[in-house]
Amino acid sequence: MTAASRSPKDFFRPLAVGAPTPLREIPARPSRAIHFFDPSNPKMAAKVPDMVGKVDVLLGNLEDAIKADNKEAAREGLVRIAQETDFGPTQLWTRINALDSPWVLDDLTTLVPAIGDKLDVIMVPKVQGAEDIHYVDRLLAQLEAKAGLEKPILVHAILETARGVANVEEICGASPRMQGLSLGPADLAADRRMKTTRVGGGHPGYLVREDPPRIDGVANLEASRATYQQDLWHYTIARMVDACAMHGIYPYYGPFGDISDTTACEDQFRNAFLLGCVGTWSLHPKQIAIANRVFSPSVEDVAHARRVVAAMGDGTGAVMLDGKMEDDASLKQCLVMVELAEQLAAVDPELKQQYDAIGADSDEQSEA
Ligand code: GLV
Ligand code: MG
Repeated sequence: MTAASRSPKDFFRPLAVGAPTPLREIPARPSRAIHFFDPSNPKMAAKVPDMVGKVDVLLGNLEDAIKADNKEAAREGLVRIAQETDFGPTQLWTRINALDSPWVLDDLTTLVPAIGDKLDVIMVPKVQGAEDIHYVDRLLAQLEAKAGLEKPILVHAILETARGVANVEEICGASPRMQGLSLGPADLAADRRMKTTRVGGGHPGYLVREDPPRIDGVANLEASRATYQQDLWHYTIARMVDACAMHGIYPYYGPFGDISDTTACEDQFRNAFLLGCVGTWSLHPKQIAIANRVFSPSVEDVAHARRVVAAMGDGTGAVMLDGKMEDDASLKQCLVMVELAEQLAAVDPELKQQYDAIGADSDEQSEA
């Protein structure tokens, strides 16, 4: 929420004379995979033009993973790549350096005039509270005005500090530029003093165990008992989803560092998708395919959702389908699926073909 001294009317006025008018709605652009590349690495930079159209978002990373000696090369590399590449339907994002770093001011004052017309979203790491977003918000408005930009650059915050999590709702509502949030599990684990050494994903030690079997009422503590690994990130993702939904912006998973463990990666991504996230980061080309699959509703779910929409007519009352009760609330869930499928089909011809192959009156059964 904004400070009490600011009129709600001012919220959608530019923060600098001549800056573009803030958006009232954040567009729901497909962003299943946000693929990170290092603009200071010539091999990675050379691959960028080929990835256009094959991934929803390309992100030039300037922050962690870029060595201090390469910070300037990464910034300059991103400017060059952005100027030379036609991104077509693919969004271009960047992750700037943290607000307490010596590089971030140059990041913003270089990128906005040079490539501000090409940058869709600026990801801000280690956001602690609304004050961090207010700082970036005003600075962007000043730079946009100076550069004569016509469309506001949106802001995405990484949730990777304990204070950031505590302030998640005010961060999401701090500016009409706020586009979304990503989980930053590596920095968040460190900041919380969690006892893990991984980048995202679960941990075999974080589990629940079934009760011991009882014989004549006596617990057999020697018997082997099933254990189930729990999700370290459930709490944070759930808070992010609620905070984002409340403010009309979009939540994302973040990095999954074990590139070789594609199964566990897919599980984490799917949990996030089911809870309400719209996408995730990709740190390696093979994670793009996983993200595109997981963050697109399955053909079976879309078929079922369309059947419910067709059966519910004007949306009131209740109907029985396959022995299950459907009503206004299940219809609304189905509409989320159908609308997402339509948005994704508009940018993904393969997916469009799969969704088009099922009709509204399909007899396909669904697990949904
Ligand atoms: C990402 O930036 C993380 O810290 O996990
Ligand atoms: Mg981080």
